[in-house]
Amino acid sequence: MSSFNVLLLPGDGIGAEVAGEVEKIITWFSAQGIAKFELDRGLVGGSAYDAHGKAISEGDMAKAQAADAVIFGAVGGPKWDKVPYDVRPEAGLLRLRKDLGLFANLRPAICYPALADASSLKRDVVEGLDLLIVRELTGGVYFGEPKMITDLGNGQKRGVDTQVYDTFEIDRIARVAFELARTRRNKVSSAEKRNVMKTGVLWNEVVTRLHQESYKDVELEHVLADNCAMQLVRWPKQYDVIVTDNLFGDVLSDVAAMLTGSLGMLPSASLGATDVKTKRRKALYEPVHGSAPDIAGKGLANPIAMIASFGMALRYSFGLGDWADKVDQAIARVLAKGLRTKDIAQGSEKTIGTTEMGAAILAELKAAA
Ligand code: NAD
Ligand code: IPM
Ligand code: MN
Repeated sequence: MSSFNVLLLPGDGIGAEVAGEVEKIITWFSAQGIAKFELDRGLVGGSAYDAHGKAISEGDMAKAQAADAVIFGAVGGPKWDKVPYDVRPEAGLLRLRKDLGLFANLRPAICYPALADASSLKRDVVEGLDLLIVRELTGGVYFGEPKMITDLGNGQKRGVDTQVYDTFEIDRIARVAFELARTRRNKVSSAEKRNVMKTGVLWNEVVTRLHQESYKDVELEHVLADNCAMQLVRWPKQYDVIVTDNLFGDVLSDVAAMLTGSLGMLPSASLGATDVKTKRRKALYEPVHGSAPDIAGKGLANPIAMIASFGMALRYSFGLGDWADKVDQAIARVLAKGLRTKDIAQGSEKTIGTTEMGAAILAELKAAA
C-alpha cells in the first residue's frame, strides 16, 4: 500500500470547519487501507499569527516542503485586519505558494446536475458546465517588485504594485493548460490584456509561439480578460480551459464559482513542477473560497469545495484517480438526494450544516467502497 505524508493546515474561520470534514474522510481512506496517509497538522494564517507572530512558522514551512501534499482550509478574518502587512494571514498562503513553487493553480468549475437551478444565472446557461481555469500562481502583480506605499511629502502617498512576467513563467503555465486541454475538449482560451499591458503582449506572444511549436492540435483562442469575465456570465459553456495570470485568475475564478451555485463548491489544486529525478511534485489543495467571517463559527459552511479539493489530491498527488472519481460521484449523489447547505439552497428548501454535509458525503463514499 502506498504511503503519503499529508500536512493539514486548517487555518481560520470556516477553513477550520471544512478542514475538519476532510480530515474525517482522510482518516477513513487510511482505515480502509486504500492508501496510508500519515497526517500531520500545522497552523497558518491568523491562528499561526496568534501562536507565533507569523502567518506561518518555519517549522510548518519545513513540514510543507517535506509533505507529499498540503491540505489547506482558508485564512484571514477581521480579527487580524490591523496586524502588520508582512505577517497578515494571507501572507502565509502566499509564502506557501511561492516557496513551494506552486505555479499551476487548477480551478475546475463544474455545475452538478442537481444544482442547475442554484446559480444566479438561468439553468440553460449553466447546465452541464465543466470548465477549468488554469491560473498562474507564483508571479505577476502578486509578487512583482517594487511593491510599496511611499510618502510623497505633499500630503499624498503613492501605492505601487508591479506586474512582471518572464517568458519561462508564461511558457510553463501555458504548457499545463495545453496538456490538460488534450485530456478534455481540446480548447484553450488565453486571457490577458494585451491592449493595455506589456505583460499581456508578452503573454499573448509566448502562448501563440508555444501553440505553433508544440500544440497545433489544440484549438487556441485569445480573449481580453474583461471580455472573458463578461463571456463567463453570458455563455460559459463556450470555454474548456482558460489560462490566465495570477490576478485575472483570482477574479475570474470567483466569477466562475457562481456558475456552479456557490463559492463553496469550487475546489483547487496548486501544483509545482515534477522533479525529473524523484518524479515528485509539490502540491497544495485548497478550496477557492476564503474564511467567510460572516458565517464562521456557525456550522453553516459548505464543505464540498474542501472535500472536492481532497478529491483533486487523490488524482494529482496520490495516483488514485478512481477514488477521485468516487469522491465526485459521492458529492453528486448527495446533491441529487436534495441535501443542501444554506449557500446552495433554493427558497424554502430545508438545509443542513457543515458536519451533516461532510457525513453524508462520507456515507456515500462508504457505500461505494
Ligand atoms: P470569502 O470567500 O471568505 O467569502 C465570500 C462570500 O462567500 C461570503 O458571503 C461567504 O459566506 C461565502 N462563502 C465562502 N465560502 C463559503 C462556503 N464554503 N460555504 C458557504 N458560503 C461560503 O471571501 P471574503 O469575505 O472576501 O474574504 C474573507 C477573508 O478570507 C479575507 O481575509 C480574505 O483575504 C480571505 N480569503 C482567503 C482565501 C484563502 O485562504 N484561500 C481565499 C479568499 C479570501
Ligand atoms: C484565492 C485568495 C487568495 C488570492 C488570497 C487569500 C491571498 O483570494 O486563493 O483565491 O488572492 O490568491
Ligand atoms: Mn480569490
